[in-house]
Amino acid sequence: MLAYRHAFHAGNHADVLKHTTLVAVLRHMNLKDKAYRVVDTHAGAGGYSLQSEYAHKRGEYEHGIARLWGRDDLPAPVADMVGLVRDFNGGKELRQYPGSPAFAHMLLRPQDQLRLFEIHPTDHKILASYLGEQPNVEIKMSDGFTGLTPQLPPPSRRGVVLIDPSYELKSDYAKTLAALREVLTLFAECTVIVWLPQLQLLEAAQLPQRLKASAETLAKKGWLHAQLTLSQADARGFGLLGSSIFVANPPHTLHDKLKDSLPWLTTTLAQFDGARHRLERGGGA
Ligand SMILES: C[S@@+](CC[C@H](N)C(=O)[O-])C[C@H]1O[C@@H](n2cnc3c(N)ncnc32)[C@H](O)[C@@H]1O
Repeated sequence: MLAYRHAFHAGNHADVLKHTTLVAVLRHMNLKDKAYRVVDTHAGAGGYSLQSEYAHKRGEYEHGIARLWGRDDLPAPVADMVGLVRDFNGGKELRQYPGSPAFAHMLLRPQDQLRLFEIHPTDHKILASYLGEQPNVEIKMSDGFTGLTPQLPPPSRRGVVLIDPSYELKSDYAKTLAALREVLTLFAECTVIVWLPQLQLLEAAQLPQRLKASAETLAKKGWLHAQLTLSQADARGFGLLGSSIFVANPPHTLHDKLKDSLPWLTTTLAQFDGARHRLERGGGA
């Protein structure tokens, strides 16, 4: 069984970037009444205690969501995400952090659908107890990479896919690229959000370029890539330097929202003097 548990990492800087982007994309989807389907291929547990042993062991949220809590100068897209974290906590104290299924569930309307895949039995159980009884939500304890394409395209032809593997297995890099290509071949207008780790590892360094090349030809409305570099590798070259978000068919408003937010996030979440960001886009008509 895989060892990765998102409870160790919930609310870290990577979640902040990923969930700010997810919330901005879903807000845009909600501008039209027509139903859409969200498919989350690697859903996790759906919500995490920040007071648990897991969260405290590495204290990653302290360099992520905790640095945003109580700030009154948040850029609007970040404030939107933090507002949902506040709703999830039901108060002013930061005790819990929502996972991607919870952010989606807070934003979806009665006509929309949520499809969740989580392969770890414990996280699947927690997720099922939280969202399993909700209307229009389906949860499967199976491989999200293979379960993805049968969900597409939805009858309304409006869809958002989140591909957020742990990359614990090196094969996740190739599977992520293949999944993006399969989705866009089936459904060229689908908005696909991919989370990517920034590591000193060949597969991680190559994946953004490979996603861009695929989306360049397959995505009707182009692609966007946003990266935050916040930390340094250790002496052996290990450690998460930062992360990025790749979006195929991004909403046209997403570039400007991230352009306004990334400099602020870089300054606020920096763990070394060389912290920096990058925002690129391409493809489309
Ligand atoms: C990075 S975490 C997901 C975090 C979640 N998307 C969020 O933003 O809150 C990755 C999750 O994928 C699960 N997982 C790993 N391989 C999987 C697979 N092939 N299919 C479905 N889930 C998988 C892991 O157990 C883990 O809970």
